[in-house]
Amino acid sequence: MLKIEKLTVEVAGKVLLRDLDLEVKKGHTNILFGPNGAGKSALMRTIMGFSGYKVISGRILFNGEELAELSVDERAKRGIGIMMQRPPDISGVRLRELIKATSRGRIEPEALAKTLDLKPFLDRDVNVGFSGGEIKRSELLQLAAQDPAFFLLDEPESGVDLVSIGQIGKLIRKMLSAGIKCPGERYEKGKSALIITHTGQILDYVRADRGYILCEGRIMCSGNPLELLDEIKSRGYEECIRCKLKS
Ligand SMILES: Nc1ncnc2c1ncn2[C@@H]1O[C@H](COP(=O)(O)OP(=O)(O)OP(=O)(O)O)[C@@H](O)[C@H]1O
Ligand SMILES: [Mg+2]
Repeated sequence: MLKIEKLTVEVAGKVLLRDLDLEVKKGHTNILFGPNGAGKSALMRTIMGFSGYKVISGRILFNGEELAELSVDERAKRGIGIMMQRPPDISGVRLRELIKATSRGRIEPEALAKTLDLKPFLDRDVNVGFSGGEIKRSELLQLAAQDPAFFLLDEPESGVDLVSIGQIGKLIRKMLSAGIKCPGERYEKGKSALIITHTGQILDYVRADRGYILCEGRIMCSGNPLELLDEIKSRGYEECIRCKLKS
């Protein structure tokens, strides 16, 4: 569904991603690991088409279509949705209005907000004054409303308390397996996702198919995500780089 081939990306005159290959098959969930500053968020922002992320070479294909010439909203219309690591505050726009717009009127904001305990937030400006955990839930609510076919989730569990992680994890699992149920609508089963995690906590809730390790803008290796996580925990990212250099 998503195929990235030999992608090199530059931001502010600096190469952040180099010769990167990555693939997510339809219905699969892949995990992206990597140390701080490795380029993980930059990759997601490039896939989404945010400005400033300049593709120097290589290409990104979504359902066989090259994304290069498409704007952010065209990519969203193709079915890509993003949960950002640090989304902006949007003063003057109430969460309720955003939910109505992104769901194209097919979702009742109250009902959806109830699942994430966000009802009291519907009439507040998006993310303004929200706590870290509330922002994550608000992001997820917006994604649930958009109901994309492909999810880019940038550290969905970071800054979230232990109880809310369960709530968020279960909702992500539900969204990936069948979408949010809406009266009179049928959902295509098995959405796809690329999820960034440092702790791997999301893996307690979501069955992941493949993991990738990104260091210094390059993919070091890929494989079983739980095994990769164990390796990272026991040997660290330095060992990934050493191992790659040896090969
Ligand atoms: N617009 C920008 N201008 C200049 N440098 C940038 C820009 N965007 C990203 N960078 C730099 O690129 C590097 C990779 O950033 P990125 O946000 O992708 O890291 P990350 O892997 O997501 O790290 P973390 O785990 O801390 O979130 C960082 O050194 C960052 O400062
Ligand atoms: Mg990041």
